[in-house]
Amino acid sequence: MPDATKALLEIRDLRAGYGRIEVLHGVSLHVDPGEVVAIIGPNGAGKSTVFRTMMGFVRCTGGEMTFKGCSLHTLPSYEILRLGLAYVPQGRIVFRDMTVLENLKMGAFIEPDRRKVRQALERTYTLFPVLHEKRSQKAGTLSGGQQQVLAISRALMVEPKLILLDEPSLGLAPNFAKFIFERLLVLQEHGITIMMVEQNAAKALEIADRGYVLELGNNRYSGRGRDLLHDPEVKRLYLGG
Ligand SMILES: Nc1ncnc2c1ncn2[C@@H]1O[C@H](COP(=O)(O)OP(=O)(O)O)[C@@H](O)[C@H]1O
Ligand SMILES: [Mg+2]
Repeated sequence: MPDATKALLEIRDLRAGYGRIEVLHGVSLHVDPGEVVAIIGPNGAGKSTVFRTMMGFVRCTGGEMTFKGCSLHTLPSYEILRLGLAYVPQGRIVFRDMTVLENLKMGAFIEPDRRKVRQALERTYTLFPVLHEKRSQKAGTLSGGQQQVLAISRALMVEPKLILLDEPSLGLAPNFAKFIFERLLVLQEHGITIMMVEQNAAKALEIADRGYVLELGNNRYSGRGRDLLHDPEVKRLYLGG
C-alpha cells in the first residue's frame, strides 16, 4: 500500500511539458526506500520527461514532487544531487576522451572529502571489476555495455539514495542487458533504491518490485512487477502479446 509518510519519492499530479505543449497531464507515482520501480509504456508516453522534470531540466507546471520530504520544485540540480538523487540519462553518456578513472572522479565532483572518493572508487571496482581493469583507458574505447556500466557507476560515486536510470539496457546485446539487470539487483542489496524507465518492459518488470505503465502523459496501470508481467491486458498492449 502506498504510504505517503514513508515514500522516498512521491510524485502527485505532475504536469510538465516543453514550451506551451503539456506532455505530462497529471502523473502520480511513488517509490519506497529499497524498491526497484519500473516505468514502462510506449514511445513518447512521457517516461523520460518524468525524470527530466524531477531533475529540474523540464519546467514543471503543476503537481508535487517530494524526495525525502523535500520539494524538488525549488531546488537547483546540484542540490538535488546532494540530497541523494542521481540521474543517468538515456544513451550511455560518458566523457569519451577522458579515462575511466577520470569519468568516475567527475561523478564525485560535489564530494570534497578525498577519502570518501577513494572509498567510492573501491566500491565501484568491487562491483564492476572491468572498470578497474580499464581504469586508464579512454572511455570512448569501451564497448557499449561497458560504457553503460561506467555511466551508472559515475552516478553511484556520490552514494545516492535513489538512482534514476533512463533506458539502461537500450542498444545493448542481450547478454549485456541481462548483466545490467542482474547488477541492479546487487545495487538494491547495497541499499540503493532504483527507478528505471525501460523499453525492455518484460525484463524490467521481472526484476521490479513495482511498475507503472504510462501512456500519453497519464498513468495507465500500476502494480507489482510480477502482477503486471502476467496481466493479460498489459501483456497484450505493452509486452508484445
Ligand atoms: N525537447 C523536447 N521538445 C519538445 N517536445 C519534446 C521534447 N522531448 C520530448 N518531447 C515530446 O514529449 C513527449 C514525451 O517524450 P518522452 O518523455 O521522451 O517520452 P518517452 O521517454 O516515454 O519515450 C513526446 O511527445 C515527445 O515528442
Ligand atoms: Mg525516453
